Amino acid sequence: MTAMSESLAPRKSYHLTTFGCQMNEHDSERMKGMLQSLGYAEAKDLEGADLILFNTCSIRESADSRFIARLGEAKRLKKHDPARIIGVGGCFAQSVKEEIFERFPFVDVAFGPGQVHKLAEFLTADSLSAQGYFEFEGFTGRLPAHRERPFQGWLQISVGCNCRCSYCIVPSTRGREVSRPLPELIGEAQAMAADGVREITLLGQNVNSYGRDLRDEAGPRSFAELLHALDGVEGIERIRYTSPHPKDIREDVIRAHAQLASLCEHIHLPLQSGSSRILKAMRRTYTRERYLQKVALIQEQVPDVSLTTDIIVGFPGETEEDFEQTLQVVDEVGYDGAFTFIFSPRRGTEAAAMGESFVPHPVKIERLQRLIELVQRRAEQRAQRFVGRTVEVLVEGPSRNDPAKLRGRTRHNKVVNFDGLTAPGEMAFVQITSASSQTLAGEERLLAGARAQPC
Ligand code: SAH
Ligand code: SF4
Ligand code: F3S
Repeated sequence: MTAMSESLAPRKSYHLTTFGCQMNEHDSERMKGMLQSLGYAEAKDLEGADLILFNTCSIRESADSRFIARLGEAKRLKKHDPARIIGVGGCFAQSVKEEIFERFPFVDVAFGPGQVHKLAEFLTADSLSAQGYFEFEGFTGRLPAHRERPFQGWLQISVGCNCRCSYCIVPSTRGREVSRPLPELIGEAQAMAADGVREITLLGQNVNSYGRDLRDEAGPRSFAELLHALDGVEGIERIRYTSPHPKDIREDVIRAHAQLASLCEHIHLPLQSGSSRILKAMRRTYTRERYLQKVALIQEQVPDVSLTTDIIVGFPGETEEDFEQTLQVVDEVGYDGAFTFIFSPRRGTEAAAMGESFVPHPVKIERLQRLIELVQRRAEQRAQRFVGRTVEVLVEGPSRNDPAKLRGRTRHNKVVNFDGLTAPGEMAFVQITSASSQTLAGEERLLAGARAQPC
């Protein structure tokens, strides 16, 4: 047999399935960038891949089940072709680290969210015997990112979480909070801008506590200081962030929304529950009143702001009265959108041990339906304020429902489907003609001098 030269050898291929939040999406971009630099090509499905990777989430039981189902497919493929490598990274892997190779003996490599970079070490090692990497090391260094859209990028400002919300698995999967130094973040934002990124989203479990742990020569830093510094980066036209914790969001951050041209008019402020009693049991460390005070301050300083939130229904011990208090807050605030979840007991969390006060499943479902109905009604009412306005839209590509149209996002983080000609990555000015709870519809205004109304 003739030996194949290096350059003619088929390239190794990988397939990466991502579950979970933006942190995971960002980690996956970094994994993809790393794999490309190792000479791997992306396969379009599991079947076509030599390396099958999963970046997992464990926030709710449903996340675990979705992953286990996909892992079953990988197991079947490996049975037919044992040379395939299976890798499991992310929060699920971290949360079952002790037992992962016992439960899933066909897995070759497993790593927690803090160990993404170790994947390269594993893949370039001489022998590929089963390996697990689960240390917390803070931010895992600079890895090349493979961005889904070249004009939008994530910037991870901190890793981990020091909160102890009683329902949440994240502190145990992502470790203690570590902020990245401010000059490093500015440098990364400048490099992103030079690469063509126009919109950045800052990522952290609690962005407001950014910088408190920094002990560089400049001393502790604040999130507001970071926002001001990033606003000065040439080429970055939009800054978003997720998520602020209501207990920590300060007036300097709220004011920054009114002061900084690039900071978008959208705040995702997770409520979780509108009942102070349940908030206490959740260990959220704010009351319903304190939350509403923060909202009032935001609405006063940034009058046209879009507010979105996360809400959990059916936390252990939640009564009909508690739930009605959540409905009242939703009605009063008038969110532009909300992610709504059914409480899911997570291994190792305080709330998982409250079995005696679990809310029956049918009650949780009924509450979720009532909540969704109210959230959608209020969001639809709120969205009507955009009808007739011409707004600035960053074009993302063709519309999902109708490829003849374009799709993009406003500064308020509303998706807009519209008739227009502007290329992806460019700003369009779109006159809004109708609005539903989820999306806006409109037509691009191409007239010379067309300007978005200040929003
Ligand atoms: N750090 C972010 C949230 C990360 S998790 C923050 O605090 O804002 C995203 C959302 O998942 C949470 O806001 C919460 O609403 C939901 N969530 C977390 N754990 C959950 C659980 N055990 N059951 C149901 N929903 C949960
Ligand atoms: Fe979880 Fe609370 Fe930390 Fe958010 S702030 S990641 S909900 S522990
Ligand atoms: Fe994110 Fe899921 Fe982990 S929501 S932080 S990937 S548990």
